[in-house]
Amino acid sequence: MKAFIVNRYGKKEKLQLTEIAEPVVKETDILVQIYSASVNLLDSKIRNGEFKLILPYKAPFTLGHDVAGIVTEVGTKVSKFKVGDEIYARPADHRIGTFAELISINEKDVAMKPKNLSMAEAASIPLVGLTVWQALVEKANLKKGQKVFIQAGSGGVGTFAIQLAKHLGATVATTTSAANIDLVKSLGADIVIDYKKDDFETILKDYDVVLNSQDVKTLEKSLRIVKPGGKVISISGPPDPDFGQEINANWFLKIILKFLSAGIRKKAKRLGVNFSFLFMRAQGEQLSQITKLIESGVIKPVMDKVFPFEETNEAMSYVEKGRAKGKVVIKVK
Ligand SMILES: NC(=O)c1ccc[n+]([C@@H]2O[C@H](COP(=O)([O-])OP(=O)(O)OC[C@H]3O[C@@H](n4cnc5c(N)ncnc54)[C@H](OP(=O)(O)O)[C@@H]3O)[C@@H](O)[C@H]2O)c1
Repeated sequence: MKAFIVNRYGKKEKLQLTEIAEPVVKETDILVQIYSASVNLLDSKIRNGEFKLILPYKAPFTLGHDVAGIVTEVGTKVSKFKVGDEIYARPADHRIGTFAELISINEKDVAMKPKNLSMAEAASIPLVGLTVWQALVEKANLKKGQKVFIQAGSGGVGTFAIQLAKHLGATVATTTSAANIDLVKSLGADIVIDYKKDDFETILKDYDVVLNSQDVKTLEKSLRIVKPGGKVISISGPPDPDFGQEINANWFLKIILKFLSAGIRKKAKRLGVNFSFLFMRAQGEQLSQITKLIESGVIKPVMDKVFPFEETNEAMSYVEKGRAKGKVVIKVK
């Protein structure tokens, strides 16, 4: 089958379109004919080598973390899916590879594709949808009447997060640049701050939750707009010791993680704020909950651009510019 692989780590390295062997289908796996994949900054960060310590993929390997497609084969112990099902997924770490024609995925990481979405729209959802679910529902336990600050409301994560937070009954503040103000308002944002003009720290106060996706400076400011006992969940680092436990890191990596987040944890503690790092994980059950929200019209995909499979490198470059409005998708079939 055809696949875009990382041959060598590096910021300037391009993925190579290559013929590789079809995936092996284990007992609890389904084999998926890929129709669409979406691009995440995680793909670029992995190719650059920035995740080597946490996810030590050995080159050559196929990149890609989001998929929508059709089941073409099921393992002997698969119980939830059958050949012909239309599914979507964020395959688990160490089993990625959606920039390809086929992928085999453990059925526990898969959900039925929302019936009202095209394959391209469906592929745009899993990684960002699960990230937001794990941040706002699992970690923050965001409740009706609470105030949440979602940074970069016009991005892949932000466009999904605004919609889910509104559904949960929260008041939503977000940052974006002037060109995207109407977009984030249309998704339900209550307070929109043009980050090029205004400083959110002077506008927002006593927030219950922050979803941090930007740099350390923004993270530090975020600590100061949260009320004591509130939560700041960062998806852009620094990783904390709990994350080390979650991924079963060795002692050396655990020390590094402790060191990387020591400063921010100290500042958070001083302010009585709960800081935690989140690295999203594959989760078919949660994705099924997301399917329901999409089918009932609560959450709509926000798509920027669809690239043909052959232009996967161009799609990655586009996302790396950091200006995407919603998600960027690759059409494989
Ligand atoms: N830990 C995890 O599990 C996890 C999961 C998903 C994503 N992430 C990380 O979270 C970050 C966001 O991901 P994403 O997929 O949402 O990115 P994205 O879609 O590429 O974000 C692009 C958007 O960010 C906005 N933006 C850029 N700089 C901004 C700033 N200073 N303030 C406010 N908005 C700004 C841009 O709006 P303008 O054009 O208006 O500037 C654009 O719409 C990335 O670092 C990604 O790696 C982590």
